[in-house]
Amino acid sequence: MGKVHVFDHPLISEKLTLMRNADTSSQNFRHLLKEVSMLMGYEVTRNFETKLVTVQTPICKGSFTILKEDFFTIVPILRAGLGMVDGLLELMPFAHVGHIGLYRDENTRQPIEYYYKMPEDFESSVIIVVDPMLATGGSAVDAISSLKSRGCKNIRLMNLIAAPEGVQFVQDHHPDVDIYVAAVDEKLNENAYIVPGLGDAGDRIFGTK
Ligand code: PRP
Ligand code: URA
Repeated sequence: MGKVHVFDHPLISEKLTLMRNADTSSQNFRHLLKEVSMLMGYEVTRNFETKLVTVQTPICKGSFTILKEDFFTIVPILRAGLGMVDGLLELMPFAHVGHIGLYRDENTRQPIEYYYKMPEDFESSVIIVVDPMLATGGSAVDAISSLKSRGCKNIRLMNLIAAPEGVQFVQDHHPDVDIYVAAVDEKLNENAYIVPGLGDAGDRIFGTK
């Protein structure tokens, strides 16, 4: 079973609290999301494999650590996942970015895929799927299934807020995928929004409502 890593860090908690506040502007919301993504990225990348290389310092030769893999793909689920990309790219400027466009049908609440574009040969890369909200889990499960159907094996999921239902749904369908999340909230409401949550992440990032 994939692990659920819930962050317990005062800086992340404070920024998340500011984001939950309905009075926070889109400009501040975007900035906070970028900062939290960078802080979370530090932990999401913690178990990346490393290898030793020989380096000549100005003083002597030594054996030092670098990343073993050199191909990483950040995959935002459009739209809201875009808000988490820049923070991760600050940490991993060498990473590639693929995009999956999904939206939830307002009646059926099922995710509909409308866009898919990945870097060449990305299947063997280490993949971080990002989306601020893990509500029913339908979008994340679909995005991960879509990646697996193309041969991807090394996938982790990074969300800002999850509902317990969403965590369970991902674990049921993709038990090999670790989930990294800043908070697991109480529940979903009748519209499948996370309670207390922060509202519609896409709208808050892009100021569309
Ligand atoms: C939101 C959010 C997730 C999805 C989560 O996107 O960014 O992708 O809902 O819900 P789920 O876990 O129940 O699938 P939305 O469909 O509102 O699209 P948007 O990002 O374009 O606003
Ligand atoms: N999507 C969002 O943007 N927010 C929620 O609370 C649930 C789904």
